[in-house]
Amino acid sequence: MDFGLKGRRALVMGASAGLGRACATALVKEGATVALCARGGDRLQATAEAMGAALAVPCDLSQPGAARALVREVVAKLGGVDILVINSGGPPPGGIESITDTQWQAGFQSLWMTAVDSIQEALPGMKAQGWGRIVLVTSTAAREALPNLTISNGLRAGLLGLVKTVSNEVGPHGITVNAALPGYHATDRMKDLGLTDEKVAPQIPARRLGRPEEFGALVAFLASEPAAYINGQSIACDGGALRGF
Ligand SMILES: NC(=O)c1ccc[n+]([C@@H]2O[C@H](COP(=O)([O-])OP(=O)(O)OC[C@H]3O[C@@H](n4cnc5c(N)ncnc54)[C@H](OP(=O)(O)O)[C@@H]3O)[C@@H](O)[C@H]2O)c1
Repeated sequence: MDFGLKGRRALVMGASAGLGRACATALVKEGATVALCARGGDRLQATAEAMGAALAVPCDLSQPGAARALVREVVAKLGGVDILVINSGGPPPGGIESITDTQWQAGFQSLWMTAVDSIQEALPGMKAQGWGRIVLVTSTAAREALPNLTISNGLRAGLLGLVKTVSNEVGPHGITVNAALPGYHATDRMKDLGLTDEKVAPQIPARRLGRPEEFGALVAFLASEPAAYINGQSIACDGGALRGF
């Protein structure tokens, strides 16, 4: 299948490692011109060079205004952003009594305002050309709360409402907005949370962690031309782990 992505300009956030890297790699392989961001300059630069990305922008998405400045810079350097993949580092675990106000604010800035700000900045260009793809990388926790991931569960559930609302608003302009929900994939984030294959695999119908490139393939498809009629959806890539329909 031809994804129709040759020459399309994509911005993938949080893409020096893990799922973001896999999304960016898949888009590069499909012929898109890809810009990446992450905080760490060295790893980011090396990743961008390894995959053949066009641009690497150091950016800390937990800082107010960072996502706006990032999109503006990429638009200025690539001439526009046709595909926006919103992704950032996961918030720390913890129960309701242990999480500090500072942690809530950081999570809100990083997960929520990054989505709002980057969508607002990217939309005018997408509307002007009558074509755009926005994919929010979130989590199956948006649909089924995971133990001890209070910040993630709370904010990500709300973000599905944002995706649905914005998809209704921008659909008439040839723009789709969808959420891609990873289950358990083998990345540094999973190691940091102590979620090993042995612990997690028995709960997953596929009986293994996902490979990041399996998730990247979903995101590349949602960004593609043939996915034009998929809008406002939340689609899991989780080996069947979500129990609900
Ligand atoms: N892996 C999974 O199975 C899974 C499941 C459900 C949800 N998720 C969610 O999906 C997202 C990505 O997860 P992952 O497993 O790919 O994580 P990861 O392996 O830790 O990679 C995170 C990426 O984001 C970058 N990043 C982190 N904080 C950032 C910030 N403040 N500003 C800019 N870039 C930042 C990191 O680079 P730097 O450190 O250099 O900035 C890295 O490139 C997270 O929100 C995570 O909670 C993951």
